[in-house]
Amino acid sequence: MTPTHLGPAEHLFSAEEVEAAIQRMAVAINKDLEHLTPHRPVVLLCVLTGAIVVVGQLMPHLHFPMTLDCVQVSRYGSETSGGELQWRTRPKESLAGAVVLLVDDILDEGITLKSIQDYCMAEGAVAVHTAVMVRKMRPRSIDLQVDYVGLEVPDQFVFGYGLDARGLGRNAPGIFFLPEDH
Ligand code: IMP
Ligand code: MG
Repeated sequence: MTPTHLGPAEHLFSAEEVEAAIQRMAVAINKDLEHLTPHRPVVLLCVLTGAIVVVGQLMPHLHFPMTLDCVQVSRYGSETSGGELQWRTRPKESLAGAVVLLVDDILDEGITLKSIQDYCMAEGAVAVHTAVMVRKMRPRSIDLQVDYVGLEVPDQFVFGYGLDARGLGRNAPGIFFLPEDH
């Protein structure tokens, strides 16, 4: 157990491990996207709020022309599971004809990423590549291919590196989870 602002928590990955994973993702993304961009910059879409940290670390390692835009989709309902989807921020620039790199903090059920990907395609994107800093090891009914995954985490509510638990913990320097009885 490690002391955190949210109480004693299990430390899954250190900041160094997360940063190394983000760099590995950047290498794979560069390999796939760098040859696509002589004509038009890739649109990197950051899923607010949690992906801010991973996007900030990923971007300086990406070597192709890009623009940065943000989307925000909230899921209401219980704090830690499920809920209805609501769009809060849509991309500011047109996605018609764009290659999109959609980056989120975590893949849980996959509903968030799948809805945003569908939205981008409906807006005319030619391709939507998806990247998540962490993926929960759990079964999933959503049909979604995630192209780049940094780390795998157990099916627990995790926080740190942009991910929050009840609004806190986004600044935790690594990835943590709270014990069941917390
Ligand atoms: P999904 O739609 O179930 O994939 O949920 C994805 C969204 O829920 C993410 O963008 C996160 O904001 C949030 N989320 C899901 N699981 C966690 C978690 O363990 N910690 C923090 N946020 C989470
Ligand atoms: Mg999110």
